[in-house]
Amino acid sequence: MPTNRIVLKIKRQDGPHADPRWEEFSIPYTPKMNVISALMEIRRTPYTTRGEKTTPPVWDANCLEEVCGACSMIINGKVRQACSALIDQLVQPIVLEPMSKFPLVRDLMVDRQRMFDALQRVHAWIPIDGTYNLGPGPRVDPQAAEVAYSLARCMTCGCCLEVCPQVTPASPFMGAAAISQVRLFNMHPTGKMHARERLEALMGEGGLADCGNAQNCVHACPKEIPLTESIAVMGRQTTTHVLKRLFGG
Ligand code: SF4
Ligand code: SF4
Ligand code: FES
Repeated sequence: MPTNRIVLKIKRQDGPHADPRWEEFSIPYTPKMNVISALMEIRRTPYTTRGEKTTPPVWDANCLEEVCGACSMIINGKVRQACSALIDQLVQPIVLEPMSKFPLVRDLMVDRQRMFDALQRVHAWIPIDGTYNLGPGPRVDPQAAEVAYSLARCMTCGCCLEVCPQVTPASPFMGAAAISQVRLFNMHPTGKMHARERLEALMGEGGLADCGNAQNCVHACPKEIPLTESIAVMGRQTTTHVLKRLFGG
């Protein structure tokens, strides 16, 4: 294989109900390319290595700097962000597939709505009432701020759901990301006030009890969020919540 070419194999599917197929592409090498720039090159001249004209591949992307999570896909068997996957560091042919735990839209694009629905279900926000100036918020000790910062880096990319054996296209399990966000919002001085609602949601269908503790999630998270620690913390918080409920605390 000439070193001035990049070979990519892409799993194509024209729509959610179409049959999948594989197509191979060979594009000119330029330094510092990543998977998104390679896909853009294919989009410019959508011909397979056999010289057949095809449709330009479809994928999702936004920030192009590993912040939005939209470009998550399976690259050489590992779920990660296409915008930060450097061609120079990948074995060829580079194999691209869509994530498998989310409904397929087309080609490499999936619908991550189940993650946003889960965030809604667990009230992953801080209600701020009114339009008046609330003044400075309460002081947060630096240690707690550091933990909160690590949790706040979640970009809802879906890698943790993709690798989780408990998450399937049909299962209601919300996955580690939403559980970890409950930890974040429950530790916030204002967010604490709505901790009960979040804990109730975590104890509902598809919540914490569905986690099988396989710990795949924590290894897959590109932002190194301590997901298994969050799951353990939320396990303790829900237990305390149940005891308080039982004994009227
Ligand atoms: S610990 Fe295992 S089962 Fe639980 S969310 Fe992580 S990968 Fe899924
Ligand atoms: S917890 Fe990590 S892997 Fe999961 S959605 Fe957030 S950033 Fe992605
Ligand atoms: S485009 Fe936003 S993370 Fe890749």
